[in-house]
Amino acid sequence: MMQMNKRILLIIGGGIASYKALFLIRVLARRSIASRVILTKAGSEFVTALAAGGLSGDKVYCDLFDLTDEAEMGHIQLSRSADLVVVAPATADLLAKAAHGLANDLASTTLLATDKRILFAPAMNVRMWEAPTTQRNIQTLKDGGCLFIGPDEGDMACGEYGFGRMAEPEAVADAVEVALRGVTAPDDPRDPKPLQGKHALLTAGPTREPIDPVRYLSNYSSGKQGYAIAGALAESGAHVTLVSGPVALGPPHGVDVRPVETARDMLTACEAALPADIFISVAAVADWRPAKPADQKIKKSQTDMPALELTQNVDILATLSKAGNRPDLVIGFAAETHNVINHARAKLTKKGCDWIIANDISGDVMGGDHNRMILVTPKDTRSWPLLTKTDAARKLVSAIVAHFQRNR
Ligand code: CTP
Repeated sequence: MMQMNKRILLIIGGGIASYKALFLIRVLARRSIASRVILTKAGSEFVTALAAGGLSGDKVYCDLFDLTDEAEMGHIQLSRSADLVVVAPATADLLAKAAHGLANDLASTTLLATDKRILFAPAMNVRMWEAPTTQRNIQTLKDGGCLFIGPDEGDMACGEYGFGRMAEPEAVADAVEVALRGVTAPDDPRDPKPLQGKHALLTAGPTREPIDPVRYLSNYSSGKQGYAIAGALAESGAHVTLVSGPVALGPPHGVDVRPVETARDMLTACEAALPADIFISVAAVADWRPAKPADQKIKKSQTDMPALELTQNVDILATLSKAGNRPDLVIGFAAETHNVINHARAKLTKKGCDWIIANDISGDVMGGDHNRMILVTPKDTRSWPLLTKTDAARKLVSAIVAHFQRNR
């Protein structure tokens, strides 16, 4: 049996998302983190103690007034013996009880009695999530130092759309790892700087490839995703250099923006910004450029219909992946409309990068405010739901934080 280095106390609340807590136990076990489970009464309507116990390999605790449990391990001792308390799914009810100190069952009593940090993975209907009462409760818990992961935005079991889906087990496991290592998630007010001392270099936006002094070849990239990632990295304490093609966006707070126009300028600016610990190639670099841009405006009268001769542009991502002073973590993007993961995996090898973010652009991704990203590494893939570009950026930064903590 694998040696478990850390132990969490996992409180499984009641909701459709309860099944994700079972996956979480398995994901954590693979990372050498053991789970001891408290299953609430509502939770037991959705998953069984038998399943949770089978997966955790430990007794599952259900009832506050079980004399056998109290004799074996009192409810106070239950949380003391863990390194972290995780509530997943954290229902509106559990959040309210925790925020107000109610203690009328085993889960709420444990939350009140614990001396360990608590990580909540909320899951509920979007209206309940948006309710001012829930938001006030969350603020109270955050002010008290509790950590949060999610919820995600997307389709809900109740047929509505919005925030309220529990974060995916891999993402909760990342947040657990970060919390266990004593640093915290990017949005935690107590330690917002887990990437302090790291230099992150990014490209974003389109490039413009001149045809003549007044015309150019370009694409629809808005730069929103790259700017959101740059902002999230800066929030996490990284020193961020953002080499940006022409976009209609203001510089993100705390980010050093270097404006460029062409792909060749972008590569030069990137090389000048090295060394870096992280390189994220978000820019939609024009694959081709006019071979011989005209010095003067091409006049209609000059020619019937000018033929554009194109030449291949430099590949910035591939170049930096092979550079002598290659950043430790190199991440590329792959915009795909079909066969997304296979194409992304092929690109991982072709470009020589560590991770690819596959972007399913069959929707309104280019220029839109939402993104559906799949993180593809040589070992596994992780799909995130349709999120705002800001939330997608935070997900990526959480994965980056976890990566550096793992490889410390
Ligand atoms: N990229 C780059 N320099 C280029 C072209 C692309 O740095 N000249 C980077 C992008 O920033 C992105 C990744 O490479 O991180 C995308 O690779 P690319 O082969 O351009 O992907 P697609 O445009 O999706 O290519 P394809 O047409 O092969 O699907």
